[in-house]
Amino acid sequence: MPQSRRIIIDTDPGQDDAVAILLALGSAELEIVGITAVAGNVPLKLTEKNARKICELAGRPDVKVYAGAIRPLARELVTAEEVHGKTGLNGPQLPEPKMKLQDEYAVDFIVETLMSEESGTITLCALGPLTNVALALIREPKIAPRIKEIVLMGGGFFEGGNVTPTAEFNIYVDPHAADVVFKSGIPIVMMPLDVTHKALTTAKRTKAFRKLGTRVGTATADMLEFFERFDEEKYGTDGGPLHDPCVIAYLLKPKLFKGRKCNVSVETASELTMGMTVIDWWGVTKRPKNAMVMRDIDHDAFFELLLERLGRL
Ligand code: BDR
Ligand code: CA
Repeated sequence: MPQSRRIIIDTDPGQDDAVAILLALGSAELEIVGITAVAGNVPLKLTEKNARKICELAGRPDVKVYAGAIRPLARELVTAEEVHGKTGLNGPQLPEPKMKLQDEYAVDFIVETLMSEESGTITLCALGPLTNVALALIREPKIAPRIKEIVLMGGGFFEGGNVTPTAEFNIYVDPHAADVVFKSGIPIVMMPLDVTHKALTTAKRTKAFRKLGTRVGTATADMLEFFERFDEEKYGTDGGPLHDPCVIAYLLKPKLFKGRKCNVSVETASELTMGMTVIDWWGVTKRPKNAMVMRDIDHDAFFELLLERLGRL
């Protein structure tokens, strides 16, 4: 078997974050070195607890979970309980986690891991606001060239935004952190709304998770049914976009996605367009091509992959 890819998942669960974590846990090709929680969909106290609930759901209390930033670099925290529910993980009834939160601060864990592990072997998977990642880069800039790749869910251009007409939630919550990350020179793969809005949790797909007949399958269906109701109403679609698992799916099957390398710059000044990811798709500026921006997905194959991997748990 080929050597597994070593990843740190930075996350704010969140039902779609939870499915992303389950996808990683169900995939032997990936080794989760640690999960770092950040404030986002709900406050940090809940996101770190939700990350532990999901590890336990998957029967993996051995995974190390760390708590990071309680708020964005410069702005007040904005949360999304209207989408994810009060706990951030409304839908299934999951027990309070027994596994312990690690004592180390998530930002220190990211820095220490990248400095001590062989350079170019750790991939960062960012599923929430980029606060922890930016803080790590600010604390120890030497980590930048040691990161193999950052694969992140965030931004949007052709689809517009989902919290303001121009901004996607993860980037909007901490645009200054996103700015640090996009200017870091680290290879970035970006999963914007332009691609995640094509990965819809239709009723048929949700039912297929329930049909697995396992605890993970049932909890996933319960999560998706809760999560999709908000977006179904908003967009008038059958199902809602399943954003964050696109990041993990890319690591497993990059060919599911199509995009192009271009410049991405983050708006941090104008209140009107705060957190907008300005994507130079047509290369009309001389700005450096700092990200592989995905725009298309083989959504049937994506959901087949999810079903198969979650079925292993
Ligand atoms: C992103 O925001 C959160 O609500 C989701 O977990 C996802 O990471 C989508 O805009
Ligand atoms: Ca998220």
